Amino acid sequence: MANLENIKARKTLDHIQPYSPGKPIWEVQQELGLERVIKLASNENPLGPSKQAVKAIEQGVLGLNRYPDADASDLKAAIAKEHGVEKTQVIPTNGADELITLISEAFLEPGDEIIVPDPSFSEYDFGAHIMGAEVVKVPFAQGFAFDVDAMIAAVTDKTKIIYICSPNNPTGTYMKKQDVQKLLDAVGDTLVVFDAAYSHYADAEDYTDGTEFIRQGYPLLTLKTFSKIYGIAGVRVGFGIAADSIITSILKVKEPFNVNTLAQLAATAAVTDHEHVTQSREINNRGLEYLYGAFEELGLPYTKSMANFVLVKLGDEGETLYQDLMKKGVIVRHGKGWGLPEYVRVSIGTQEENEFFIQALRELIQK
Ligand SMILES: Cc1ncc(COP(=O)(O)O)c(C=O)c1O
Repeated sequence: MANLENIKARKTLDHIQPYSPGKPIWEVQQELGLERVIKLASNENPLGPSKQAVKAIEQGVLGLNRYPDADASDLKAAIAKEHGVEKTQVIPTNGADELITLISEAFLEPGDEIIVPDPSFSEYDFGAHIMGAEVVKVPFAQGFAFDVDAMIAAVTDKTKIIYICSPNNPTGTYMKKQDVQKLLDAVGDTLVVFDAAYSHYADAEDYTDGTEFIRQGYPLLTLKTFSKIYGIAGVRVGFGIAADSIITSILKVKEPFNVNTLAQLAATAAVTDHEHVTQSREINNRGLEYLYGAFEELGLPYTKSMANFVLVKLGDEGETLYQDLMKKGVIVRHGKGWGLPEYVRVSIGTQEENEFFIQALRELIQK
């Protein structure tokens, strides 16, 4: 009889921590016997999906006996038009998560290094670990500002990818355009992956989503997603924009039918649904202002955010308050996984959800 103990996965997989998506609403309802549970933990769009996307899905279901368009041609064209780039500079993927894996597979050899500001989105580490590459973490400066000089100083001849998440998940801070320029000029022939998943929410004058640097010929890839402002996280679509040569390398490791038919139709419709984007941004801005005001009133330090979530410091009681919020039917994200146990990250909800959250927090803090 064979010994199953001898069926061993690659050693590099030992480094991988399972992704923790946060508890779903139904699980918290069942576990705690609660009628009302709200989830402000995954930075989703509280307004719902783009209506144009929903209509496109409804119309597309009858074609499901056919395989999807392997080239996602209409979607590519819509993204290219919206961003002022060529179709050959665009790659749609099964969520931005898939793109991070594909980038890792295309560019990382065992022993290579990636540079990641810390704390940031965990999928960059995952991509490095599946390829046996090393993760070099560069802490943020005061107030979670990007430390560009420290990032430049961390570059070695093993560095293959520098990740910049801007606005950054979970801090909400962004890298100023002049700092992106400085970094690109300093690091030369190193691929910079610029994760702009939350770019639609960023309204600072000196914000960039990176695409202007792609047009200038820099080795930068901008990564975006349909899961946030477009509100279609459930169908899984993300995309990358970069120079043709970078996209061609990534296409080599892509599965032929990675973006399913309904996802392609929904995303193609969502790209031009500017009304939904504008409305989503307005709800978000109002929500941010409301939460800032409430945190100030409660004496809780928070970091100003350019995204659809806020990092707020609850102090030594951080984990207990996170658990107690859940007992009151509010799911937020505790900062432990980012090495920030005194913090929680709360996504902006509808005004009613934001008020429900603040009411629960107030009761816990003032009890
Ligand atoms: C910074 C960042 N990048 C990428 C993603 C992944 O997006 P997707 O849902 O398209 O896989 C997320 C999702 O939370 C994110 O926060």
